[in-house]
Amino acid sequence: MTKTILINIDKDNIDTKKLKHAAEILRAGGTVTFPTETVYGLGANALDINAVKKIFEAKGRPSDNPLIIHISNYEDLNELVLEIPKNAEKIINEFWPGPLTLIFNKSSIVPGIITGGLNTVAIRMPAHPIAKLLIELAKVPVAAPSANLSGKPSPTKEKHVKDDLMGRVDAIVCGGDTAVGVESTVLDITSDIPMILRPGGVTKEELERIIGRVEVDPAIEGTQKKHLIPKSPGMKYTHYSPNADVILLSGDLEDIITGIEKIRKDKEDNGYRVGIMATDETKDKYEGGIVISLGSRSNLETVASNLFKVLREFDEKNIDVILAETFEEKGLGQAIMNRLIKAAGYNILKV
Ligand code: TXA
Ligand code: MG
Repeated sequence: MTKTILINIDKDNIDTKKLKHAAEILRAGGTVTFPTETVYGLGANALDINAVKKIFEAKGRPSDNPLIIHISNYEDLNELVLEIPKNAEKIINEFWPGPLTLIFNKSSIVPGIITGGLNTVAIRMPAHPIAKLLIELAKVPVAAPSANLSGKPSPTKEKHVKDDLMGRVDAIVCGGDTAVGVESTVLDITSDIPMILRPGGVTKEELERIIGRVEVDPAIEGTQKKHLIPKSPGMKYTHYSPNADVILLSGDLEDIITGIEKIRKDKEDNGYRVGIMATDETKDKYEGGIVISLGSRSNLETVASNLFKVLREFDEKNIDVILAETFEEKGLGQAIMNRLIKAAGYNILKV
């Protein structure tokens, strides 16, 4: 057990002295969790191999799953990568700081433990004021996966981080709820046509508006691709999973509702506790089960922002089976569906 100190920071009125304390822990080779605009991260000095090892231990993370390095300024980028491809400049100008991680060819100072032995490195400049200032004060690039135990949904609230990592990290910076709610988009820019390896906070449509054609790793698109091996090592793990079994229903919304009701009755008759992951538009149409709305179908930002929180809520309510509605894989819907499909372990029912 590690003694974990809690550091409360108001993101709209940052107490620099308190945040400096967290930065010093990072500089000294310790682990610190902190809010970003996507989800909470579990950080350590990216250039200190022993510090990075502590991240893997705290999370119980497989060592072949590479980490994202978080930076606060452009100079840091230069020393971490071999070259900055031409199209990268446009992308960086438009989307950094923000929920976009870019894959570059790595420079020799990036340790192999960060990249899982790959020649490439993932880099992101977060926009959250606490994350930005913490990295700046630490004066080191900060490796940070999501601050959850491996296998659990990513944390979007202070409570999620405490539940998972109290006693496992040196400090937890509490800074309120994260806004985006799904992790950053991972975009590989080492090839001529950039490829999305993980859909996230920046959508394919937004990227295409700036740089033209963007591909999506076929292994992560659609609902039938269980057999394909994703290019991003982390995408092969069935994480994001709650304790309950998750079943997704896809089809026309009316048919989804009818289908969920039918399965709910059947499961409840057999003694299961059933949760229904609904939306504002549909939540009143279910006649039983524990119904939680993710937000409005006409505002997918709310759905993304609530997704991981709702998965954790069902676990707290000891639900056995979660029946979930699905979304069109467009815009933010692509990231939402990607997380849902993984939470369900590809358990998808076409209705
Ligand atoms: O929003 C986010 O990205 C959050 C916050 C904390 O910044 N971080 C995050 O980290 O989600 P993590 O470790 O949970 O996910 C990193 C993803 C994994 O799928 C990993 O395999 C992929 O990025 N990745 C890292 N380095 C890579 C590389 N060199 N090539 C391909 N994929 C890489
Ligand atoms: Mg993660």
